[in-house]
Amino acid sequence: MKIGIIGTGPVGGSLAKNLATLGHQVKVTNTRQPAELAQKAKELGASPAALQDVVQDVDLVFIAVPFKVLAEFPKDLFRSLPPEVIVVDTGNYYPFRDEKIDALEQGQPESVLAAEQLGRPLLKAFNNLLAETIASGGTAPGTLGRIALSIAGDDARAKQILSDLCNDFGFDVVDGGSLADSWRQQPGTPAYCTELTAPELTQALANAVPGKAPQLRDQIISELLQREAWPTREEVVAGNRARQLGKE
Ligand SMILES: NC(=O)c1ccc[n+]([C@@H]2O[C@H](COP(=O)([O-])OP(=O)(O)OC[C@H]3O[C@@H](n4cnc5c(N)ncnc54)[C@H](OP(=O)(O)O)[C@@H]3O)[C@@H](O)[C@H]2O)c1
Repeated sequence: MKIGIIGTGPVGGSLAKNLATLGHQVKVTNTRQPAELAQKAKELGASPAALQDVVQDVDLVFIAVPFKVLAEFPKDLFRSLPPEVIVVDTGNYYPFRDEKIDALEQGQPESVLAAEQLGRPLLKAFNNLLAETIASGGTAPGTLGRIALSIAGDDARAKQILSDLCNDFGFDVVDGGSLADSWRQQPGTPAYCTELTAPELTQALANAVPGKAPQLRDQIISELLQREAWPTREEVVAGNRARQLGKE
């Protein structure tokens, strides 16, 4: 597939590298000057592109930037794309980083607001895995304990294409419902960065309680920010399982 990725941080970079390794044609963008972007793209096995170009002539776009950045994109960036181009929001909203956004504070699902801001239907996926898990947590189909991710969105065709891609990438997939349901995989929910198998993730999505996650999300971040060293992937997942699932 031809894939454009906005953002080359831990999430966008991991997606780009693994997708290029799988043989996809990947182009990436970030905020750097052309020479630095070109160097980053080379490291990832991708091509460099300006923001306006990274979404052109592709089958699929991944958006991997902090939530607050979406409002800064040019208004026409996505609106003119052909409808068959699949746009995937991998992002999460963290008020400590993105500043408080009223609609999200009032409970609007993050990707519903993102779709409004971008003027375009979206799928939400990969947001419930740590970047390190995206980078190296994938396994072959059928592997015992294979980690699953959730795809939420309203376009069945787009979901199927992304689901096949995620399976090739190394993860089982569960249907996270409509984009309006995507609050069930936001930070602080049982589905969020708890590294579950497909049946466990399906249950975790069902167990999410409306309005409960933001407080837990902020509590977890506040604890993380007080630590001297950032925890390992295993420590984050164990902590999330303890607090979000009530089990070690
Ligand atoms: N880190 C995780 O474990 C994780 C896991 C799942 C989901 N998420 C979510 O996924 C999103 C990305 O996470 P991340 O950790 O990769 O973020 P990050 O480290 O902040 O990287 C963001 C990337 O976006 C680029 N960027 C920012 N503004 C841009 C703009 N206006 N145009 C083009 N590129 C722009 C940055 O460019 P520069 O490189 O030039 O600064 C950077 O490459 C966030 O919403 C995050 O909450 C994170």
